[in-house]
Amino acid sequence: MKIGSPGSGNKPAAPKPITPAKRGRGVSPIRDMVAVIWLIVLIFVVMFHEQILSSDWLAIHVTFLGALSHSALVWSEYFANTLLKTRPTANEGKIQDRRSLLMALGALFVFVGFPMDIWVLVLTGATFVTVSVLWHAVYLARKMKRALPGRFRIVIRYYITAACMLPVGAAFGVLLAFGFGDEWRGRLMIAHMTFNLLGWIGLTVIGTLVTFWPTMVRARMDERSERMTRQVLWPLLAGIVIVAGGAVAGIKLISIIGVAVYALSFLWWGRTLWKPVSLKGIREFAPASVGAAGTWAVVGLIWIGVLLALADSWPEVTDRLVSMAPLLAFGFALQILLGALSYLLPVLMGKSPANLAVYQDALNVGATFRIAVPNLCLVIWLLPVPSSIRLIVAILGIGTIMSFIPIMFRAVFLGLKHKKVLEAEREVKAAEKAAEAVAKQEDENAQLNERHQQSVSDKNSESGSDMNRAGSTRTTNGTSDKENDV
Ligand code: HEM
Repeated sequence: MKIGSPGSGNKPAAPKPITPAKRGRGVSPIRDMVAVIWLIVLIFVVMFHEQILSSDWLAIHVTFLGALSHSALVWSEYFANTLLKTRPTANEGKIQDRRSLLMALGALFVFVGFPMDIWVLVLTGATFVTVSVLWHAVYLARKMKRALPGRFRIVIRYYITAACMLPVGAAFGVLLAFGFGDEWRGRLMIAHMTFNLLGWIGLTVIGTLVTFWPTMVRARMDERSERMTRQVLWPLLAGIVIVAGGAVAGIKLISIIGVAVYALSFLWWGRTLWKPVSLKGIREFAPASVGAAGTWAVVGLIWIGVLLALADSWPEVTDRLVSMAPLLAFGFALQILLGALSYLLPVLMGKSPANLAVYQDALNVGATFRIAVPNLCLVIWLLPVPSSIRLIVAILGIGTIMSFIPIMFRAVFLGLKHKKVLEAEREVKAAEKAAEAVAKQEDENAQLNERHQQSVSDKNSESGSDMNRAGSTRTTNGTSDKENDV
């Protein structure tokens, strides 16, 4: 499969894409830049990992709590407005920015607090994150209540449920940072990861993909989609609670059952994603990246189940789970984030179909390479290979994935340049039209003038001959008068 530009080959007949609310279009520095800033921070953390305290932990959290959580916050609001057909007001945009900043600040406190062992800072950061995400949940619930009835309200329920998961996960994180013995650390860590990964991120992603996946693939959605999404919300939620409950209670079997419930519900629902792919295939970077992320999510879920089943103790489960963190961060989190951004950026910034195509083409550069290399590197990294090979594939994989950042800046540069050219062309055309209109007007005026002068001179000549006629009459009369006088 070669993933090409959307403009190349037989362009599939696209269904109407999700049209964002007007106010959501254009550039919004906080909405668009925070995730990119976290990605740049991630590059630094990976590059200088030997000098940075708890660099592995930091890399995971910059990815999940920094970049991905910010994106989950802003994009769930964006999709909620799109699906509920409501337009965010200017004030709502400002409030969204405040929520995003609160979350970013909270994340920053956690990133500094945990490695430096300042527990109060971790607690404060987690509180900021919690307030931001609960504020978001209340906003969504109110929006849903006020909106007219329509399809896919279930998606908003997923977002609200997901937002309620993060505070619980964050609370377990705060407990972990406080410090516990190995046994409790292991159990709390499973609960922490379950609420955050399967709950906050998992439910947000599932809710979003219901409508976003067919839009990205440019194919018709599976008719069963909405029904099946509704069916699996409770089983997914039950899975999360059972996994975490089993861990807190210290009963591995319960956690294994929870993972199975979540994984089976996910796979049951995931069938609805297959139909659009079977109809149109995958041709662009965005769906290919999201598809790869989904595949790693399934691998990760099965892996967690197997680890739980095979490990003898909770500390052993935790150690092994921590070692699969790159799979979750790079295989799943980064690929889903970059795939979503690659689709949404052109939709938000493209000012016309031609302008949108410029963004899309620029973001699809080297798509096949950018999908194949990191995923192959991750597979090699997970195999029992010598550490030198691991280092090489890690550098190659991360480098290729992160090539997204310069590619994105280039796309924005080309898109804005194209927009300026279009605007200049439009201005020239408008000026030409205006000049034409003036010339036409002048022509008409000249013709009118000519006609007016013609009629004036006609009148003049007419009145001249009248006068002549009158004069000659007068002369005739004068003669006869004289004649009379005589
Ligand atoms: C306010 C939020 C958060 C806080 C305070 C927090 C804190 C922590 C702490 C203290 C640990 C244990 C580190 C150790 O003992 O080695 C941990 C581990 C972990 N957390 Fe978080 N976390 C937060 C949010 C998240 C989120 C949102 C995610 C994912 C969506 C996440 C994923 C993980 C993972 C995968 C681990 C295990 C891997 C590792 O330790 O590097 N965390 N977190």
